Amino acid sequence: MCGIVGYIGSRHASGVLIEGLRRLEYRGYDSAGLATVDSKEIQLVKVAGKIANLSSVVQVNPISGTVGIAHTRWATHGPPSDINAHPHLDCQGTIAVVHNGIIENFDKLRRKIIESGHQLRSETDTEVIAHLLEEQIQNKTFEEALFSVLVQLEGTFGLAMICTNEPRKIFAARRGSPLVLGLGKNRDEFFVASDPAAIISYTQDIMYLDDNEVAVLSDSGVETFSLDRNRTDKKIESIEITVGEMERGGYSHFMLKEMHEQPEVVTNAIRGRLDFTEGLAVLGGLSDVVDQLRDLKRLTIVGCGSACLAGTIGSYMLEEYAGLPVNVQLASEFRYRKPILDPKREAIIVVSQSGETADTLGALREAKQKGVLTIGVVNAVGSSIARETDAGVFVHAGPEIAVASTKAFVAQVTVFALLTMFLGRMRGMSRSVGVKIAEELRVLPHKIDRILRQEEWIRLLARKYAHSPNMVFIGRKYNAAVAFEGALKMKEISYLHAEGFAAGELKHGPMALLDPSLPVVALMTRDSVFEKVRSNVEEVRARRAPVIAVVSEGDEEILSLTDDIMFVPRTLEMLSPILNVIPLQMLAFYTALARGHDPDQPRNLAKSVTVE
Ligand code: M6R
Repeated sequence: MCGIVGYIGSRHASGVLIEGLRRLEYRGYDSAGLATVDSKEIQLVKVAGKIANLSSVVQVNPISGTVGIAHTRWATHGPPSDINAHPHLDCQGTIAVVHNGIIENFDKLRRKIIESGHQLRSETDTEVIAHLLEEQIQNKTFEEALFSVLVQLEGTFGLAMICTNEPRKIFAARRGSPLVLGLGKNRDEFFVASDPAAIISYTQDIMYLDDNEVAVLSDSGVETFSLDRNRTDKKIESIEITVGEMERGGYSHFMLKEMHEQPEVVTNAIRGRLDFTEGLAVLGGLSDVVDQLRDLKRLTIVGCGSACLAGTIGSYMLEEYAGLPVNVQLASEFRYRKPILDPKREAIIVVSQSGETADTLGALREAKQKGVLTIGVVNAVGSSIARETDAGVFVHAGPEIAVASTKAFVAQVTVFALLTMFLGRMRGMSRSVGVKIAEELRVLPHKIDRILRQEEWIRLLARKYAHSPNMVFIGRKYNAAVAFEGALKMKEISYLHAEGFAAGELKHGPMALLDPSLPVVALMTRDSVFEKVRSNVEEVRARRAPVIAVVSEGDEEILSLTDDIMFVPRTLEMLSPILNVIPLQMLAFYTALARGHDPDQPRNLAKSVTVE
């Protein structure tokens, strides 16, 4: 999704800005641009397409200046084009604006400024901001003009702006779209960015801008203000990620690297959190809300995409082992469906890798308004969801760069196993069951390793089926959500049309699709629903659809039922999704390659969906 970088200091701004944009490339975008400022003019370059295009243009026509802002755009209003790319200028070309988010009342504002004689060049909602500032700045400082404009804007924004009137300043403002401020090591250069990743080559010291705050960056430092123009105090925090974590480290793709990191990811998610003697999970992030958790009568889990599917698996665990009724909702639905929640006896778990997904953040705020306890299961430390939830458990997956979620999903499911132990042991789960789950979590990383060693075999399978027009994934109980996740991964990165079904649902409609051209991937490891899935697979075979099965190691008996097999080690049923999803991730990855697509940056998608 859109990215922002801004720089003020003594280096060539364009170099710093392009490097920052490159670090945001993983988030997905369709055009990029940058602008620098001095007292005479704003120099601007913006192009549709990749940052490499922007960089080539800048190499041919260098952009001077030591103060500047830059942007990667993911189209919302108007298609990707040079003109719609950010930064946007006012009529005079003296103000430049980059913007993440959506201005919901832009149509009304656009009509108003056109009536006042402004000429708009783009179809974007962002450009109106540059012209509104131009209107206001006639007899005001930029800062005063900005405050007057911000109150007119409805919707969400992370903004960075420069102006020839005050050429040694960058102005920034936030409502709903994240921004961080970076302080150079010697405090002689300053940064603004939508994601700390953009500035990790330059500094570790950052301050998170809060909603409805404005920042002014100058050569002497950073000042922050609330919308009522009072100074605010900010805490300096450290960026938790390293440059190395943001690089491919010898792998051809980030997705491949992240799949291979999964053994370590599970180790990190459980590190220091298991008591093997008492069968307890020790979750420090929940210690302040233990009493509320003990009295819970119901839980709601919300998230989007893979995060919601991880929550669905969590709901099966929590119901089976912690005896808690759990309701799982897509965050985008939850916030509009007038949910009925009892603030005294209910809590909501908000699941998100990025911690910035607009719908999930919206759902969290809706729940907070209703007064229920909010708990985050989040990867990105310092993200909006991590900061706005009452309590939480970080999944510690490290930065996930590939658009398709792999290691974060596995870490989220692992954390749900910990939460199940934590809540379960408060409400009747025996010590021995707790110990059994803890012991099995401990050995999962080795089992994941064993699956990863089948990479070459899965690559061949992917090539065999890569040119099928469609694919179906089926599973039951814990693995119904894994079937959905497998299909999501497949369509997301390979563009092969794939659907996931709870296996029992086949007969209620989807079975009409089955014929020899439709491969069916069946999750049929040995668990409590194995026989049921086997019957479903028999039905699939009867329609002569090819079956690719994920089966338990050593389960040779299934060979006669299936066309192809991927083995996974045996584990507890509740933990089986953590293993079963891995061959499906690999299958999707190699299918994408076989079909000639880049798995890291699928078309039309963004890593973090910060607009509704
Ligand atoms: O950052 P989040 O976990 O909130 O993101 C939620 C979804 O957008 C995300 O899981 C998406 O479905 C993935 N790209 C799937 O691989």
